[in-house]
Amino acid sequence: MILDALKQVRYPGNGKNIVELGMVNDDIRIDGRKVSFSLTFEKSTDPFIRSVVKNAEAAILTFIAPDIEIKGNISVVAKKTAPEKAETPKPLQGVKNIIGVSSGKGGVGKSTVAANLAVALTRLGYKVGVLDADIFGPSMPKMFGLEDEQLYMHEVDGKDMIIPAEAYGIKMLSIGFMVDKNKPVLWRGSMASNALNQLITQADWGELDYFVIDMPPGTSDIHLTLVQTLGLTGVVVVSTPQEVALADARKGIAMFTDPKVNVPVLGLVENMAWFTPLRHPEEKYYLFGKEGAKHLAEELNVELLGQIPLVEDIGVKADAGSPIALGDSQEGHAFLALAAKVNDAVTRRNETLPPTAKVKVRN
Ligand SMILES: Nc1ncnc2c1ncn2[C@@H]1O[C@H](COP(=O)(O)OP(=O)(O)OP(=O)(O)O)[C@@H](O)[C@H]1O
Ligand SMILES: [Mg+2]
Repeated sequence: MILDALKQVRYPGNGKNIVELGMVNDDIRIDGRKVSFSLTFEKSTDPFIRSVVKNAEAAILTFIAPDIEIKGNISVVAKKTAPEKAETPKPLQGVKNIIGVSSGKGGVGKSTVAANLAVALTRLGYKVGVLDADIFGPSMPKMFGLEDEQLYMHEVDGKDMIIPAEAYGIKMLSIGFMVDKNKPVLWRGSMASNALNQLITQADWGELDYFVIDMPPGTSDIHLTLVQTLGLTGVVVVSTPQEVALADARKGIAMFTDPKVNVPVLGLVENMAWFTPLRHPEEKYYLFGKEGAKHLAEELNVELLGQIPLVEDIGVKADAGSPIALGDSQEGHAFLALAAKVNDAVTRRNETLPPTAKVKVRN
């Protein structure tokens, strides 16, 4: 009976119930009107520990009897099926939060959002770095006006480290710097992973509040490599309101929430939410359908972090290497609002972690 009640409790990370997931231990005790049980979590840093235990207690009260005295215990045990492996130290030790910007479909404005989010976070007072990991179309050098940048190394603790390029106070490295831009290469899986790994581990990123990654579109091995080596704080998923883009965004979100990947989705950004002509800033034309990403966010129960209009200037400024978020136009402010929401989502997430795993965000 207790188990039936606990079957009503779903694990937010993947939506399956906690009994089915084998999280409920077989030490359930019923002693008169007292019930105790324990749940197993694989990681002490699991962000859902508190809410799952609370929900389990509530389910017993709701489905069994409202006057039961309950004790929900937690045991943190790596599941037996998990392979034992030595903990390798995570790279980017000086970085507080790592945010992946991802999209299901290409061309929806992922890089535009990543660049402007980085600029807006800087304007909010945070120290920011950007990694362009889009092996299919690195575009950060152009968006930050750093296309002709020459990279240098310097020595840190006896090791040669790449010095990230810098624009607008933001440190930036791109997979695009690793190749001659006149001779584009088609990255093979391992080659791309190695090059990215070098940009992450052999670069002097220093102390940062936010490390923003422009990920390749879709779902690929590169995503998994980044997720596994870096331990992302969360991802921001970009989509346009079109059906095709939304279908791919849904796939992207499913990949991140899969228990094997298990990266928190901080929320969705609806880009090109409507078109506003340059000379008629008050007008809105819903070229690609109205509020598609907003509805998807509601359906999947993820936050809608912002709606960015299709405005000529956003593209023009991106191409010119000075992201629109540097200025105080309406669109610039839309990106500042987006950055504030991302920062809120990260802060909330960090607060749900136990103190030892807490990652502090500078106020
Ligand atoms: N809100 C917007 N308003 C106007 N133009 C935009 C907007 N968002 C993106 N663009 C333009 O659309 C094009 C695609 O955007 P972007 O390169 O950011 O997309 P992407 O998802 O990173 O694409 P890719 O998959 O090729 O990396 C660019 O030319 C960009 O300037
Ligand atoms: Mg891009």
